[in-house]
Formats: sequence, C-alpha cells, structure tokens
Amino acid sequence: MRVHQAMADTASQPGPLKRSEPAAGDVREGDIAELQGVIHTYAADLGNQPIHALGPIDLKIQKGEFFSVVGPSGCGKSTMLDVLAGLTTPTEGTVLFEGRPLGGQVPLGIGVVFQEDSTLPWLSVWDNIAFGLRRNHVAPKDIKDRVDRVIGMTGLSQFTDSYPSQLSGGMRQRVCIARTLVMDPHLILLDEPFGALDQQTRVLMGDDLLRLWRRTDATVVLITHAIDEATMLSDRVGVMSARPGNFIEILSTGWSRDRDSTVISDPSFGAATAHIWEKLRAESMRALGRPEVERDA
Ligand SMILES: Nc1ncnc2c1ncn2[C@@H]1O[C@H](COP(=O)(O)OP(=O)(O)O)[C@@H](O)[C@H]1O
Ligand SMILES: [Mg+2]
Repeated sequence: MRVHQAMADTASQPGPLKRSEPAAGDVREGDIAELQGVIHTYAADLGNQPIHALGPIDLKIQKGEFFSVVGPSGCGKSTMLDVLAGLTTPTEGTVLFEGRPLGGQVPLGIGVVFQEDSTLPWLSVWDNIAFGLRRNHVAPKDIKDRVDRVIGMTGLSQFTDSYPSQLSGGMRQRVCIARTLVMDPHLILLDEPFGALDQQTRVLMGDDLLRLWRRTDATVVLITHAIDEATMLSDRVGVMSARPGNFIEILSTGWSRDRDSTVISDPSFGAATAHIWEKLRAESMRALGRPEVERDA
C-alpha cells in the first residue's frame, strides 16, 4: 500500500524532479551527499565528438538511506557514481560530501565497489581485506580487530586463508565488499556489483547487503541494471533517462528497514517494478536509437 501511495506522490510530479537550489556548503541536515547542477561531458578524443554523458543533475542522498539507480545502458550511471565518489571531476556543478565540496580525490568516508573483481590475486582473503588499512598505516592490533569483525559480518570466516582464485564469483565479490567495509565508510557506492552473478546468488547477495547496511548504519548508493534488485533493496529508486542521464523519477518504496528478499512476494513489489519498467521502457528504446516506442501489433 505504501508503495502505491509513494507512486501516486511521484506520479503527480511528471518529468525530472524539481528541487530547490541551496547555496554551496549548505547541506540540509539529513543529507550526506549532494549533486548541484552537475554536468559531465567527456572531451573529444581521436576524432570523436565530445560526449555529454550526464546532467544537469540535482540530487540529494539522505543520510542512512539505501538509494538505487536504474537506467538504460550507456545513460551515465557509472559517470554519476564516479562523480559522487570524487573519481571524476564534473565539467560543471558542485558535489558535496558531508557538507564539503569534493576536492579531486575519493575522501576517506566514501567506499566504492565495482562490478569487476578487484581482489588482489596474490593475497589471501584476510590480507586482501587488511590491504587498505595497512596502506593507511593503521596499528596492527586495530587491523586485526577490524578485519576479523568484517570477516564475521560478511560470512568469510571459513575462507580467511584462501586465495581469490579458489573462490566463486559471489565469494570474491563478498571479499571486495569486505575490503570496502573495513575502512568504515559513511557512504558506500556500488556500481553493478552483482552484475556478473547468477540470479539466485544475486538475490542472496542483496540480502547480505541489506544486513550489512543495517549493521553499519552506512548510506548506500547502488547502481544496478536489475529493476527487481533495485526495488527489493531500496528506500528510493532513481530512474534515469537515456544519455545525457538525469532522473525522470525518484520513487519511494516505503519498505521497513528490516526488509529482506521476501518483499518480492508482496503485491506492491510487482506494482513498483511494473511502474519502474514502464518509465524505463521508453528510455531504453531511445538509448537503442528507436525513438518510437513500439507497441505490439
Ligand atoms: N572515459 C570515457 N571517455 C569517453 N566517453 C566515455 C567515457 N566513459 C564513458 N563514456 C561514455 O559516456 C556515456 C555514459 O557512460 P557510462 O556512465 O559508463 O554509462 P552507464 O554506466 O549508464 O552504462 C556512454 O556513452 C559512454 O560511452
Ligand atoms: Mg556502468
């Protein structure tokens, strides 16, 4: 029911969400990160035209929320995540994290997980997870405590001495998530982290991610191409237009904080995914270069 209500709310605001324009540095209480008038254009390269990938986009990520982004392939989702992380400096606009503009590097409070397996093959699981702490010269005793705690949280206790090549894809991705969590990020950005996994593993990893989100109190921004994953996991789902990416709708699911994958059988889950797909279908067609939305004859 709450989903229906939330959809009714957003349905009354067609088109990109209109948001107020606060002054730089003025993050409202409750927002952990903010994009203000962000545009990103990739420069012309080797005779190619410049590519306007993103924006202008305004977005506020609320402290503690689970926010997912869905959108057609190539619409600028990864670009937005890289901008939010501080990995890419946008060509225009401001990115704030905890009230301060990002300064050309990933701040300590942000952790990023990518789709690609970023485990270090020559290190054991334990040493993979300890890697970032060692690089930051954390005291050995603290490293041990923090790595052991995260290993417990991520269900990797039986694999501490294994090497990545001995693990399944799902387990390796769990190591990547553990490597990020051990740094105690306030904001965790994940770019299609389960994209290479089979459907059942994906759903179970989603449940894991929800548990970790609850235990760490971190804010999560997840990019995914899977509408069901976005709907099941999130407090809010942002639906992006075809390139240049912008939000055509932000939908609140209304799920309780202690949700898990069983929300899939809730009647409002089907309504929410159908609603998101309806928005996305036309955009996906446009991304494929088919501006007319084809109807079955
Ligand atoms: N480093 C880059 N240089 C030039 N163009 C890029 C670069 N990265 C991405 N693009 C282009 O920008 C657009 C958005 O890409 P991306 O953010 O990766 O989309 P998504 O993650 O939604 O699939 C695409 O057209 C892509 O080809
Ligand atoms: Mg991408």
